[in-house]
Amino acid sequence: MRGPLQIATNVGFRAFARSSRVGNTLWAVTPAVLGCAKAPWSLGRFGGVHNPPSTVIHSSIPSNARFLHWSRSLLDQTHATTLDTTLPILPSPVVGRWLLLSSVLVLGIIVVGGVTRLTESGLSITEWQPITGILPPLSYDEWMVEFEKYKATPEFKLMNHSISLEDFKSIFYMEWGHRVLGRLIGVVFVGPLIYFAIRKKISKPMTVRLFGLSVLIGAQGLLGWYMVKSGLEESLMDTPGAVPRVSQYRLASHLGLAFLLYIGMFGTGMAVIKDFKFANGAAWTGSTVKSVGKILSHPLVRSFKRQAYALTGLVFLTALSGAFVAGLDAGLLYNEFPLMGGRLAPPTNELFSEDFAKNEDKSDKWWRNIFENPTTVQFNHRVLATTTYLATAALYARTFSPAIRSALPPLTRTATMAAFAMANVQVALGITTLLYLVPVPLAAAHQAGSVMLLSAMVHLLVSMRNPGTAAKAWRQIIEIKRKV
Ligand code: HEM
Repeated sequence: MRGPLQIATNVGFRAFARSSRVGNTLWAVTPAVLGCAKAPWSLGRFGGVHNPPSTVIHSSIPSNARFLHWSRSLLDQTHATTLDTTLPILPSPVVGRWLLLSSVLVLGIIVVGGVTRLTESGLSITEWQPITGILPPLSYDEWMVEFEKYKATPEFKLMNHSISLEDFKSIFYMEWGHRVLGRLIGVVFVGPLIYFAIRKKISKPMTVRLFGLSVLIGAQGLLGWYMVKSGLEESLMDTPGAVPRVSQYRLASHLGLAFLLYIGMFGTGMAVIKDFKFANGAAWTGSTVKSVGKILSHPLVRSFKRQAYALTGLVFLTALSGAFVAGLDAGLLYNEFPLMGGRLAPPTNELFSEDFAKNEDKSDKWWRNIFENPTTVQFNHRVLATTTYLATAALYARTFSPAIRSALPPLTRTATMAAFAMANVQVALGITTLLYLVPVPLAAAHQAGSVMLLSAMVHLLVSMRNPGTAAKAWRQIIEIKRKV
């Protein structure tokens, strides 16, 4: 709601806009521009409302690419015409903090999900009830109903037939907590998103992107249930030697989607906060503003950025391969490092065993071993993890080259060091998890470590990000205001 003072101020500026001119600058435009600084939604009160009310200066937002040209041309015009336009929306830090909070909740659910799997609690709830499932059983009778349903599952029949009601309650609560946290993330993310979208606190493209993430949160819930279902299938009872556990493919998809959600929330949150600081006149990643374009177009910086993107992809792939290790309990084999059975790599006939092929002609031998043979899966995870580690070390080593050192933004150098430090921690956690036969606290820390490593990579990429169009626009306006 705009107050009378604000409306009066805006009307005043508009009248002023039609009549004033100073030198070569078209005041029909700049009062509108300066109005942003003087009205109640002014830059002086930037922490409040961050997009000018659309009724103040109507019409379309210039496209991103055209914005700088647009704002410059405003200042260069020599003929008085009323220009009806508005500034692009600059989301406030509240939006950034909300996105970071959501990403922390996703980190939390990734760890809780890992502990749920490691404590073998994930198959304790046999139904998918998005609404009624919010409440756990509240009476003895309700508990008995749930317990009876669990008794019908292959996990109970094959592994847990002597479980007591009390033990059942503890695995039930673990899985229930995981599901409740999932719902909480949905509410914490979608509720404020609707508010920000309705109040136009975020731009249209960002609204679309964030609604895309909401759809992914819903898909993640469905995928989680699809994964659990694979561990409840009766057919497991007919397969000799089968262990009741969820499909490693579905586990990897569920974890991969969680990582994507995390990256989307964390990366966007960081970008929003950085853009806001930039608009308010902060130095860009420790450099002077005028040099942003120059720094980013430097060939060495561009190649560094490409490498950082490739490395982020590699970290993601390594993490996905870890999900296959977890899904097949492949961490319970070859509990030594760096050797596997006294050799750097197990024999080829073990890595590509015909036993895993299902086709008559064994044509599926290669891919089935890669995804279904625990030995091969663990070996691949080692190879990918070692490559990730060496690539992180190489990227960090590049920051010591004098040419790169002087070309890179200072924050990028620090972020590369942080990524390398996190890669060390993650590899150490992975090795100890393996050597100690996957104890729950170490394995959970290793899972959390993969998110921290991804965060370090996203932070590195954000440090080389061009400020957004809205941030550049607002910054220009603030500078003009200060000069005037
Ligand atoms: C860049 C380095 C690494 C990354 C990003 C990474 C990531 C992951 C991820 C995401 C998981 C799945 C966790 C889960 O779902 O519970 C995992 C599992 C695992 N990783 Fe790594 N890992 C790395 C290095 C290593 C190394 C060097 C080793 C040792 C050889 C290792 C051994 C394991 C083991 C044994 C598991 C299975 C743990 C379980 O069953 O919960 N990892 N890794």
